Parts: sequence; C-alpha cells; structure tokens
Amino acid sequence: MKRAAKAMLGSVGLLDPARRMKRLGERGLQAVCRSLGVTPHKAMEQRSYWEERGKAYFDEVQPILSDDDPYHQAQQEFLAELAALPWESLLEVGCGFGWHLHAIRSQHPDRRLLGTDFSWSQLARARSYLAADRILLGQADLHHLPFVDGAVDLVITSGVLVCVHERHLVGALHELRRVSRRGAIMMEYAREHMDSPTRAALMREAGWHGHTYSAWLPRAGFRLRKAFTFRAFQSLPQRMPLSFFYAEKV
Ligand SMILES: C[S@@+](CC[C@H](N)C(=O)[O-])C[C@H]1O[C@@H](n2cnc3c(N)ncnc32)[C@H](O)[C@@H]1O
Repeated sequence: MKRAAKAMLGSVGLLDPARRMKRLGERGLQAVCRSLGVTPHKAMEQRSYWEERGKAYFDEVQPILSDDDPYHQAQQEFLAELAALPWESLLEVGCGFGWHLHAIRSQHPDRRLLGTDFSWSQLARARSYLAADRILLGQADLHHLPFVDGAVDLVITSGVLVCVHERHLVGALHELRRVSRRGAIMMEYAREHMDSPTRAALMREAGWHGHTYSAWLPRAGFRLRKAFTFRAFQSLPQRMPLSFFYAEKV
C-alpha cells in the first residue's frame, strides 16, 4: 500500500482497530466515570508511563526552549515571581530533564538547588542537561520525599500535580508542605482557570488531572498567596492556560 494511503487510513484508525477500540473504550470509561461523579485514573499517574515517555520527552518538548513558545514565556514570568521571593534553597519535585532548574541556576548562581523525579529516564537526561549546574538530583516519588521536615525554603512543581489523582492530592500537597520551610510554587493546569466551554472541554478530554487548587491547598495546610494564569496563554483561547500558584505554609 502506498505510504500516503497508509497514513490516511492510520489517521482515521482503520489500520489499527485495536488502538481505535482502546481509545473508544477509554473515552467510554471516562464518560461513565463522569456520569457517576468519579474521577477516572490516568496513565500519567504511573511511573512506568514516565519511564517510557522519559526516553523521548526531551525531544518531544524542544519547542519550549524557543523564545516565542508560550511555555518559554511562562517560564520567564515564573522566574520574575521567584526573584521577588526570599529564598536560599529550592527543590523541584518531578523535575523532568531539569528545564526549570537550569533556568533558575542561570539567574541564581549561589543558591542551593535540588531536583527529584521518580523516572530514571528523565533523571538520566537531567544529568546531562544540568551537567554544569551544580544541582543535586535524586530519584523519589513525590508522595515520599527523602528529606527532613523543612529541608528547603521553597518547593516547586511544574506539570507534576497533573499526574496525581484527586484521591492522592492532599497527601501529595502535605508532602510538599512538610519538606518546605516557606511554601510552594505550583505551575499546573487548574480546573478553576478553565474559563470557557472550549477550555473546560479540553480539560475533560485531557490525559491529566486538573485540580481546583484554591479548594485543595487549604486542606493541606497552605494559605494561597497568589494565583493567576500565565499571560502567554491568555491570548490563546483554543489552548488550556497554564496556571501559577504560590502558597505559604500556615
Ligand atoms: C510533564 S513532566 C514535567 C517535567 C518538569 N517539571 C518540567 O516542567 O519540565 C512531569 C514529570 O513529573 C514526574 N512525575 C510524575 N509523577 C511523579 C511522582 N509521583 N513522583 C515523582 N515524579 C513524578 C514525571 O516523571 C515527569 O518527569
């Protein structure tokens, strides 16, 4: 069969009925869960998912490294927020290949920076990406961080709590709170900021979890000090906006 015809059949799922059935099955399950008021589990919650995806993640997200990408612009906004806070040490939980840690290091050469992730494939990439950055890296699940209470001033997450099912969210937030002295910055997709039917629908169909942070943070002993959607996403109504939350320990 000619390559173009194969691609066309593949794109409508005719070449791979098993994959098509699986996708339809997932959608059906999600719809049933929604009608019952239950949050379905997502593949992204699993370490095995991130071990596999971590092998290609760096290549997959290359566009974020360029100046005109909204995630890059959001990172600049985050760095400005971070610079305005008093801190000497910072831990990124679920640091991936270390995109934020590298950017933070370039602005704060003398602060103590640490990164953890539960995916060895992500950490392997972080080791090379951060080779010159003097950042301590470790493997850990965010639900059980290998640090004493108040080990660092600030904890940050970016695109990580979206991988945590709602029933484990308070536990995860408690763990972030435990290891931080001041509080946490979270850059996540948030249900409360899906401000149009298009965005709400995108979130419903997404492969990750969008939480209502203003409701969950107080339950884990945080006081929400700042919350907004990054400017770069405000002019992109067809995309889900990424949100910034800064919460202090009560
Ligand atoms: C979307 S990537 C974001 C990576 C990085 N924070 C960034 O912004 O570039 C999500 C990362 O969270 C990690 N992760 C997901 N669930 C985790 C958990 N329970 N414990 C530790 N890391 C986790 C994944 O391995 C992955 O590297």
